[in-house]
Amino acid sequence: MKPNRSNLSVPGHVKKMHSKALNCEADVIMLDLEDSVPANKKHEARRIVIQSLRDLNWGSKTVTVRINAPDTPFAHKEIIEIVENAGERLDAIVVPKINHPGDVHFISRLLDGVEMGCHFKKKINIEASIETAKGLEAVSKIAKASSRIKTLVFGVADYSDSIGARLVSLSGHGENEEKIYPGHRWHYPLSKIVATAKANDLLAIDAPFGSFKDMEGLKRSAALASALGCDGKWVIHPDQIEIVNEIFTPSPKEIERAQLIQDTVKKAGNTGRGAVAIDGKMMDQATLRLAKKILDQAAHLKLV
Ligand code: COA
Ligand code: MG
Repeated sequence: MKPNRSNLSVPGHVKKMHSKALNCEADVIMLDLEDSVPANKKHEARRIVIQSLRDLNWGSKTVTVRINAPDTPFAHKEIIEIVENAGERLDAIVVPKINHPGDVHFISRLLDGVEMGCHFKKKINIEASIETAKGLEAVSKIAKASSRIKTLVFGVADYSDSIGARLVSLSGHGENEEKIYPGHRWHYPLSKIVATAKANDLLAIDAPFGSFKDMEGLKRSAALASALGCDGKWVIHPDQIEIVNEIFTPSPKEIERAQLIQDTVKKAGNTGRGAVAIDGKMMDQATLRLAKKILDQAAHLKLV
């Protein structure tokens, strides 16, 4: 799969932002029809998104469209119109507020029909957004509901709403979080999503960080997500892309250390030892597997 470190959300009705997104370094561009588009612009946004998908030169960029939730009057029309008119240039449909595997079956069947009608050779993937208490409860069944699902993403703002959390941190996981709740307030849902994604060979992606002027807050939020096993993070402003890409890319120091661990543990194995010390730290076969993961990621990004 192509890298998925940063996923830029771009309001579907704001055409000039589409051209701006084209020239940025985000791994994924998501043209949004949901919460960045007001209700009276949904139709126009759909038309503009189709135009952009057809007319702009996206090159090898991964491009997705976030539709409205399955239980709205928009979702079915958006899939039919967007896939019929511009499906060839679409990598995935992002589906918000998935509550139940039935939501995935509905989207997947609709895609089957439209793709067959258009004689598409490739299948469009689904990115499932888990952002309700119901969705989190059913996440394991949702992850298995269709082979089109390649990614699970956490939606922090709607999740807060669905569990009835107080309106204290408006921007995602930044503002005031540590004052309200020492520790990582979203540790449980994010970890549950990560474990489910990994058990099903999917990517796990973190929610965006809404305080787009607070670069230190963004770094911290992305580093926490990376430490919890996420593969990437949504961003809502072009200025956030560089930091998020950096956090989800193995650093030269990490790569060097992983190489040292790999060489040393393998060499120790040849002399009959499974565990060995490097700088006063125990390294064994489990550490070797971790090191190998870093080297695989680095190879995937063509860094080694
Ligand atoms: N995608 C592409 N371009 C974007 C962008 C985005 N998400 N956000 C900002 N830009 C562009 C602006 O058009 C502007 O371009 P210009 O210099 O050519 O005029 C430039 O980046 C600087 O924007 P700025 O003035 O700093 O932003 P703002 O104050 O106008 O808007 C937000 C701030 C947060 C409202 C805006 O970034 C945005 O709409 N983000 C996406 C929101 C979204 O998708 N929400 C749903 C997410 S789950
Ligand atoms: Mg949401």
